[in-house]
Amino acid sequence: MRYITFALAKGRLAKQAMELLKERGVTCPEMEDPDTRKLIFTNEELKLKFFLAKASDVPTYVEYGAADIGIVGRDTILEERRNLYEVLDLGIGRCRMCVAGPAEAAELLKHHQRIRVATKYPVIAKDYFYNRKHQTVEIIKLNGSVELAPIVGLAEVIVDIVETGTTLKENGLQVLEEICGLSAKVVVNQVSMKMENQRIAQLIQALKRPQG
Ligand code: PRP
Repeated sequence: MRYITFALAKGRLAKQAMELLKERGVTCPEMEDPDTRKLIFTNEELKLKFFLAKASDVPTYVEYGAADIGIVGRDTILEERRNLYEVLDLGIGRCRMCVAGPAEAAELLKHHQRIRVATKYPVIAKDYFYNRKHQTVEIIKLNGSVELAPIVGLAEVIVDIVETGTTLKENGLQVLEEICGLSAKVVVNQVSMKMENQRIAQLIQALKRPQG
């Protein structure tokens, strides 16, 4: 029997995702050693392999079949636009993709001004402003700490993830428009889905509900 490989997005989601997998009987004790420097973990009994990758790389590993199954946020799926099957919403990591900025920026948005939008998610931002709002904007790609942009004058607004809203609040910013809801999803490689249908279907079934 061949191994079924999981790619998990490291970062915020990883711990929650690993707990959920454990709770649902898809375990990997080897991965729980806090001192390990290993990158890939194996459960010989269940013939499963697991690895952690940068969130934005998870859809790539799954599209190419280097992982059969990926667990990653909907934000990354929307941004990366890979050919994958999205099979399950895990209901963890719930948050929202928003347009945010200082209160004054609301007027600029309302009057369809040609504003600058800083974001880690240029594809999502472009789709929202161009296709949904029919508003021409300048998208500026950043790689993190996006909230800085309106504070230091790089952009008028940002498109970013809002979870508790604390980061915005502590920096004098607020949600101006909501783009979409986000949560962790299970994605599957399109060939694996056909070749290993039974095992993958079983794993997805297990992830749907607690054991016992
Ligand atoms: C995310 C996001 C916001 C923050 C929102 O950043 O980009 O900055 O979390 O959370 P809150 O609404 O609960 O304050 P993350 O910490 O993942 O890292 P980043 O700043 O490098 O993008």
